[in-house]
Amino acid sequence: MLLLAPLQGYTEVEFRRAWSTVFSGIDLAVSPFIPLAEGIRFRDKHLRDVLPNENKRLPVIPQVLGNDPAKFLNLATRLKDLGYETVNWNLGCPKRTVARKKRGSGILPYPELLRDILEKIIPELPLRLSIKTRLGYENPEEFFRLIEVYNDFPLESLIIHPRTGIQQYEGDMFLDVLDQTIAQIKHPIVFSGDIKDKQSYLDLKTRYPQINDWMIGRGVLSNPMLPEIIINKDNDKDLRDRQIYFHEELYCEIRAKFERTNPTLNKMKDYWSYFSLWFTDSEKIFLKLARMDDLSKFMIFAKRTLKEQAFAPIEGRTNRQVKVGEFKV
Ligand SMILES: Cc1cc2nc3c(=O)[nH]c(=O)nc-3n(C[C@H](O)[C@H](O)[C@H](O)COP(=O)(O)O)c2cc1C
Repeated sequence: MLLLAPLQGYTEVEFRRAWSTVFSGIDLAVSPFIPLAEGIRFRDKHLRDVLPNENKRLPVIPQVLGNDPAKFLNLATRLKDLGYETVNWNLGCPKRTVARKKRGSGILPYPELLRDILEKIIPELPLRLSIKTRLGYENPEEFFRLIEVYNDFPLESLIIHPRTGIQQYEGDMFLDVLDQTIAQIKHPIVFSGDIKDKQSYLDLKTRYPQINDWMIGRGVLSNPMLPEIIINKDNDKDLRDRQIYFHEELYCEIRAKFERTNPTLNKMKDYWSYFSLWFTDSEKIFLKLARMDDLSKFMIFAKRTLKEQAFAPIEGRTNRQVKVGEFKV
């Protein structure tokens, strides 16, 4: 099974709808996290991303970020009322402000706290639990003790991004630590990290024949056809038209969500920090778009780019976001 990774700010419901209108190959998405810090009462506003009516085409598992068992159970009950059967707990978020409060990956150095929270949540939880984890916060070897905790509880799956929190999303993954520990993990594993083209997927599949489920995040932004390529359903004959169609759908979704032009422009720029990777001239294209302060002009240039610019090769394409200021003007 292929899953769409949660990418806060990118793979919200607007993206999931636009993407699944045009592309296929993903079976299930995990939503970007819903923070428990919002308070004990959850209004529809906080659950907008996972309202079932909005998520008809691509099924989604809601993800929760926080460490307060009462709030967790409260939100889980709301999710159950919405018809969900599984909730995912985020133990991977690397943001310092989050980790400092022992949330996200910040809980990983404290396996006994983790055990304590699970002991409080699991007996009362009206849903199945899956966990998305890193190998540790500072040190990947934290994972040895974490596995002992994970193994003591019934989990639907353990989604593993084999980096540490302090690595954020860059640097080598600690596959050697995963190699040493994988046989001890009792739960079905979903692998998440650096699947950016077919070869990287095949390499990981060969290395971990026991894993059946694979999650892709940035790779879908840098190549929206990647899931189709992985399941051998790719059809690059009309790729340019499909990308134009997808971009238009996404733009309509984002415009409707933000209503005002400036937030729409800023969100489209965020997307183009990945979409520019579709083209050989990615840095030049992104730099030009990033400097625009008028939404109509931005869209004209974006559409012209989609129609005319040469594509970067699909195999070997990076999934590393283009950032202004990182390259010479
Ligand atoms: C911008 C961004 C936002 C992310 N947001 C979330 C999130 O809300 N929840 C989560 O569990 N992981 C989040 N992640 C981690 C991804 O789900 C994924 O595990 C990671 O990017 C590695 O996979 P990839 O190389 O396929 O992108 C985020 C990653 C990025 C780059």
